[in-house]
Amino acid sequence: MPKRTSLHGLWSSRLAFILAVSGSAVGLGNIWKFPYVAGANGGGAFVLFYLLCVALIGLPIMMAEILIGRRGRRNPVATMRIVGEEEGSRPTWALVGIMGVVAGIIILSFYSVIAGWSLSYIGHAAMNRFSGAGADQVNGLFGGLLADWRVLAFWHTLFMCLTISVVARGVERGLERAVRFLMPSLAVLMIALLGYAIFHGDFGAGVHFLLEADFSKLTGEGMLAALGQAFFSLSIGMGAIMAYGAYLPEGTSITNTSISVVIADTGMALLAGLAIFPLVFAHGLDPAAGPGLIFQTLPLAFGNMAGGHLFGTLFFVLLTFAAWTSSIGLIEPAVAWAVETRGRGRAFSAIVIGLLVWALGFLTILSFNELENFKLLGRTLFENLDHLSSNILLPLGGLFITIFAGWVMAKNSTAEELDIGSGGMYVLWRFLARWVAPVAVLLVFLHATGLLRWFGVGAS
Ligand code: TRP
Repeated sequence: MPKRTSLHGLWSSRLAFILAVSGSAVGLGNIWKFPYVAGANGGGAFVLFYLLCVALIGLPIMMAEILIGRRGRRNPVATMRIVGEEEGSRPTWALVGIMGVVAGIIILSFYSVIAGWSLSYIGHAAMNRFSGAGADQVNGLFGGLLADWRVLAFWHTLFMCLTISVVARGVERGLERAVRFLMPSLAVLMIALLGYAIFHGDFGAGVHFLLEADFSKLTGEGMLAALGQAFFSLSIGMGAIMAYGAYLPEGTSITNTSISVVIADTGMALLAGLAIFPLVFAHGLDPAAGPGLIFQTLPLAFGNMAGGHLFGTLFFVLLTFAAWTSSIGLIEPAVAWAVETRGRGRAFSAIVIGLLVWALGFLTILSFNELENFKLLGRTLFENLDHLSSNILLPLGGLFITIFAGWVMAKNSTAEELDIGSGGMYVLWRFLARWVAPVAVLLVFLHATGLLRWFGVGAS
């Protein structure tokens, strides 16, 4: 059968692809979300479970997404339909792509608001507002930002404009160049922050909290949060990596590429955790403080270290860039889908979908002030959007993707795309994709909803 070709050209090299995928993977998920979710779920046991999810579920699903994407060479909705039919199944697999488009829109709606916090902190840092600050002053700064919805709306709007301006023009070129210098710089900065935490924070307490597993602290909800965090951080489960895989040249190793990305992404999250928790404990802060955690701890470090003025400014600039390269990946499936199926121009599609995301963002903005006490199912609107997308839609999408790659696609097809022979590596991937990943996702879902106990499995 002749191979399909991509409609948008191919990545110039394997490195370009790795940079693009890690650009989407490394973002607020690593530096903002991982520490606060780990903190809220008790630390060590959560982190260990998260690492297990990354290795046993995340890696095989990332490989599945890339191989399906390269085989289909279209936007995720069309790819799932085409490859599904080709493998003798139904076109309804397209629904998985549509669910991903929806998940991307929901995630970006709150992602952009948080990226707006980072934008506003560039200003604070540049004007040296952290200088010599204690916990009270830093809390005041953060509280002040959240209190006024108009301020949040301003930064959210600015960030959405940044995102749309890139997506409207087409993703590849600018992205490749930005990520190439951005990833290494961010890594260097995080390592420097880690150095500060080792010498000036309570490093022992931080390491203890992050790495010592006490499984009595891990609830069903916590396991689901760890699973969701693995999907969120790796950008999998919504077809974004599938969309990038569509531009991957034949002959590039999917396995090696995925392993590199997973290591880079996970390393970045652990680095962020190791830099932040020593500061949390040294200043007597609450590790379970929630989404404001890095905005309430890092300024303490920047305000009291030599060169912190420059360093802090640089940090929030890079964090904003990292969020920017991720936000592009979040909106891309929706835009690609609109361009291909609605026949609209790229710029028009990007603006219309961007406006939808922007409007949806107000649910998150208001969750931190006017609607702070408005709860559904015990969660604020922001918490509901995050929970629905990260902990439910992404794992569900991943479940379907891994079932598709493991059970619907013929062994020959997946073996051909992965191109690692039919020996140990391939057998291992197929076993993880067919059995381990789907069963693990289902078990976590069942456990979190309490259904597992209802079936009489497991203690308490
Ligand atoms: N991985 C991104 C981060 O950690 C967030 C994200 C989730 C994402 N799904 C995505 C980014 C899809 C791009 C595409 O910040």
